[in-house]
Amino acid sequence: MLKTNLCGVELENPFMLAAGILGSNSSSLNMILKSGAGGVVTKSFSKNPNPGYINPTTVGVDDDSILNAIGLSNPGVDNFLDEIKKVETNDNQALIASIYGSMPEEFSYLVETVQEYVDMIELNISCPHAMEGCGAAIGQDPNLSHKIVSAAVDASDVPVIAKLTPNVTDIAEIAKSCEDAGADALTLINSLGPGMVINIDVAKPVLSNKMGGMSGKAIKPIAVRDVYVVYDAVDIPLIGVGGISTYEDVVEFIYAGASAVQIGTSIMNLGVDVFENIGKGLEGFMKEKGFSSIEEMVGLAHGDKNG
Ligand SMILES: Cc1cc2nc3c(=O)[nH]c(=O)nc-3n(C[C@H](O)[C@H](O)[C@H](O)COP(=O)(O)O)c2cc1C
Repeated sequence: MLKTNLCGVELENPFMLAAGILGSNSSSLNMILKSGAGGVVTKSFSKNPNPGYINPTTVGVDDDSILNAIGLSNPGVDNFLDEIKKVETNDNQALIASIYGSMPEEFSYLVETVQEYVDMIELNISCPHAMEGCGAAIGQDPNLSHKIVSAAVDASDVPVIAKLTPNVTDIAEIAKSCEDAGADALTLINSLGPGMVINIDVAKPVLSNKMGGMSGKAIKPIAVRDVYVVYDAVDIPLIGVGGISTYEDVVEFIYAGASAVQIGTSIMNLGVDVFENIGKGLEGFMKEKGFSSIEEMVGLAHGDKNG
């Protein structure tokens, strides 16, 4: 009932681990896969090692959202490959590598280096706290996004997903540019902002980078809106992410137009059981409403577009 085909890749369910949460090593990725996720996205990695920002890099906002500026720290592709090679998916689970860089050549190089070990590649062109020239600096510019996505797609034999930032005036324009460049799917959204939290005892921003991206429950309505708007603009599948913690959240994203979803911040409070619990809840909902597949539900909030 929950089976999902995403760009030709069969998934036992449409729930995936979002990039950057528990995705830095094979043991945590394997733990998520065993807990019932249909797929996992790795922590974003680059050609060369990047130490990221110094601590503090995350701070809680209320009980269910966080602000982070980790700065895309990672050991570089050569070291990260050792972990990727140890990830164990079954035939209906996907391993997705999240890559980033600043130049088209870096993306091509990363694609060529990892593609034989993964099922899909997600391009992080959307991080709001990346070092200069990376992340949202690309995804806020339709021409740059086009260049980077084209370079990755040309180099790739596996489906390429572009991950979008919500921190733009017109997300549909960026989405169309990525589709034109050959992206097979889009993930939306990366963290929102940047925002800031100030420690009032010392009168200073808490994060070492001062500002960071917002994630968790607080951003869900923005993510749902972005999926809804982009669904009307493109014809490639969408992966919704932002504040998902319950099956009801997943239904909202699917009705808005997502074919699959990713879950990040809520794992910190709910643990890895969140995948199985959401799966059970969604199956119950589908039975009650008379749906037999996820596909039947995609985009239903658009009434007109679906007739
Ligand atoms: C601590 C942390 C690290 C993250 N690292 C990455 C990353 O490396 N690459 C990326 O594309 N997104 C990264 N994200 C963004 C998430 O993948 C996701 O898009 C965002 O958090 C919204 O989903 P959520 O509310 O379910 O967490 C990170 C988010 C958090 C909270």
